[in-house]
Amino acid sequence: MKISVVGLGYVGLVTMAVLSDNGYNLVGIDTDREKIQRLQEGEVPIYEPGLSVLIEKNRKMIEFSNSYDSIKGSEYTIICVPTPTVNDRIDVHYVIESGKKANEIDPNSMIVIKSTVTPGTAKMLSEIINKDILSNPEFLREGNAVKDTINPDRIVIGGRAGVENFSRIWSFTNSKIIMTTNENAELIKYASNAFLATKISFINQMADLCEKIPGADIKVVADGMGMDKRIGRAFLNAGPGYGGSCFPKDTRAIVSFAEDVGVELSIIKCTVNYNEDRIRSLVNRIEKIITDKSSRIIVLGLSFKENTGDLRESKSVELIMELKRRGYDSIKAFDPVTSQFNGIDLFTEVETALEWSEFVIVATEWPSFSDFLKRVKDKHIIDLRRIIDDKTVKLDYGVGLNATN
Ligand SMILES: NC(=O)c1ccc[n+]([C@@H]2O[C@H](COP(=O)([O-])OP(=O)(O)OC[C@H]3O[C@@H](n4cnc5c(N)ncnc54)[C@H](O)[C@@H]3O)[C@@H](O)[C@H]2O)c1
Repeated sequence: MKISVVGLGYVGLVTMAVLSDNGYNLVGIDTDREKIQRLQEGEVPIYEPGLSVLIEKNRKMIEFSNSYDSIKGSEYTIICVPTPTVNDRIDVHYVIESGKKANEIDPNSMIVIKSTVTPGTAKMLSEIINKDILSNPEFLREGNAVKDTINPDRIVIGGRAGVENFSRIWSFTNSKIIMTTNENAELIKYASNAFLATKISFINQMADLCEKIPGADIKVVADGMGMDKRIGRAFLNAGPGYGGSCFPKDTRAIVSFAEDVGVELSIIKCTVNYNEDRIRSLVNRIEKIITDKSSRIIVLGLSFKENTGDLRESKSVELIMELKRRGYDSIKAFDPVTSQFNGIDLFTEVETALEWSEFVIVATEWPSFSDFLKRVKDKHIIDLRRIIDDKTVKLDYGVGLNATN
């Protein structure tokens, strides 16, 4: 069976790689010519564990193209193009345009929307092109995308016709498949992201409280909460707030979507507002610790989370920019994947970075960082991710940890 994927970012490329590994012929379309050229030459333009190996292994099953013409003959066309939030509102025009184009090229190909879209988008496209559309929202986590696609917690497929047939292509996963309406499928995605984002803002507020209570430590509180099966430990790690290409835009989009239909999502609004203020309030705390603005500061980790090179809405970048804005003029960073970023000086070796620094700020939870930090005894450490468990390492500040502990 031939399947086309439109939009070759984190979602599209991983979907292609995993489906090709399960015996399907894949065609990937992207409007970015340079990206297609790099892919055709064997380069994988994003960092995602296991992705390059999988694409290389299945080269014979995969074709990359700039032209929508290549869609011809595909049973399914899976749309994975961006759905940015512009002025707090979702912009679905990439989805609509690519759906229309795909339909012009091959009206027999079933269109599947995998991009995150607000409820009613599949119906809108369906009315424009006058045929049924499937919704198949994606739940992968960057940094773990290949594993999540091979073994997802659940698969959600929405639509009026063809749902069961489409579900068969995912049978290799052995995951539970929810078959429902387009609108439920679209909303399950937003409700899930908004809930996870809310867990993060919730635990960060609890961390603020812990910092005021001698003897309290958010890590222990989160562990205690997480043992309750009704709560769960995931997404209860206090830190600099949520970033990345999904949570910030999706939470803003669902709040404004709800407003448009007359519903106030006040809980999600608080989550968003708190998260948007998080870096400013952490920098207020850092200013009390690093009083000399010419101190040499190294920020560890630039991506929005560990195991990815994705810098979109990264809290680490926001932190560095806010520190610079407040007059810290000797601030540099180290990231295991990113070695260049406009406006930020980056070290390529962590050892050199640490040697140079007086203050170390842990901004991203890369697994290697805690080992590096065990070896440096004479630095001031500000741990915004609480990765340092070693009691012999003295923290100048740890998120959610009272200074007298
Ligand atoms: N990244 C994630 O972790 C994640 C997880 C779940 C869902 N999603 C959702 O999936 C969608 C895609 O996200 P992503 O992170 O993979 O995006 P991305 O920005 O990494 O990649 C999108 C790709 O689409 C291409 N593109 C743009 N317009 C196009 C068009 N008209 N035709 C063909 N190609 C086009 C771009 O050149 C780019 O290569 C979004 O709706 C996002 O919210 C993302």
